[in-house]
Amino acid sequence: MNVLITRVLPQKGLDLLEKAGCNVTQYTEKRELSPAQLIELCQGQDVLLSSGPNIIDEAFLKACHHLKGIALLSVGYDKVDLKTATQYGIPVSNTPDVITQTTADTAFLLMLAVARNAFAMSRSIAQGEWQFYDPTAHLGQDLYGKTLGIFGMGRIGSDLAAKCKAYFGMKIIYHNRKLKAEAEQQLGAQYVSFDELLRQSDVLSVHTDLSAETKGKFNWDAFARMKPSAIFVNTARGGIHQEEDLIEALQNKIIWGAGLDVTNPEPMDKNNALLQMQNVCVLPHIGSATAGTRDAMAVKAAENVIAAVKGQRMPNILNPEVYQEQNV
Ligand code: DGY
Repeated sequence: MNVLITRVLPQKGLDLLEKAGCNVTQYTEKRELSPAQLIELCQGQDVLLSSGPNIIDEAFLKACHHLKGIALLSVGYDKVDLKTATQYGIPVSNTPDVITQTTADTAFLLMLAVARNAFAMSRSIAQGEWQFYDPTAHLGQDLYGKTLGIFGMGRIGSDLAAKCKAYFGMKIIYHNRKLKAEAEQQLGAQYVSFDELLRQSDVLSVHTDLSAETKGKFNWDAFARMKPSAIFVNTARGGIHQEEDLIEALQNKIIWGAGLDVTNPEPMDKNNALLQMQNVCVLPHIGSATAGTRDAMAVKAAENVIAAVKGQRMPNILNPEVYQEQNV
């Protein structure tokens, strides 16, 4: 069985695929595949292991409906047209659970780095600006006892909330599609409306998927309702905030700071205004980037590929309805 992988995969995943007898082709060039290239590379392949921002849309699925499965090396699946994949009978999987703690750690890192102006302070040393000790300069914010607002109380949001409660004794509020009884019982988290989330949060961290409902949700109108001392953190998807509105909100001190692991577009242009701002920390989408987590993701993706190759149910199936008629 032939498997195309669109990036170099951590060895642990490759070992599993090899042991299962898969014939693997890896795209090793350090640039994105165009839609046409991806379609071309998928000809003669049985399963696609998609790593990176490949767009799996109707055009791709129509041209590659021979695929027996698509395994994503990510938890996010906003680039995939799941409905059309299901219509073509193609199962699609992701890599949940294994990225939870590492991604929540990245949100924690950004929150703290923004609260203490860490990235800008570091840049200022390189500019020769560390000349003498000034007790009134470089002042950040304390987070002890502050309110953390979670937008999207899933696995990652809950993990960040637990960390912030344990370490900073933060009060937890959240806004979510459904009430989260576990978070309410274990963390004392309180469900609030979106408006209250904006108004009450000292730190507001985004942990939802990118969908028609969440696209551009954090826009000027949302930032304008936040506290002037608020810190906005996004480790989910860059499309959930409106970048120009965020820049304007920061420039006009509508909010205090922002920590972003995701941008729109990615990669971010090196001249982006956010990169020069005092209370802004930007990372290059490294939420799950530790060696251990990437190994775990590769193993999970490989397990899904192997199931698809064998005609078995993918363990992390995103469109389970695809199996309904096939009785898998
Ligand atoms: C994910 O798993 O969705 C991360 O954002 C990496 O793409």
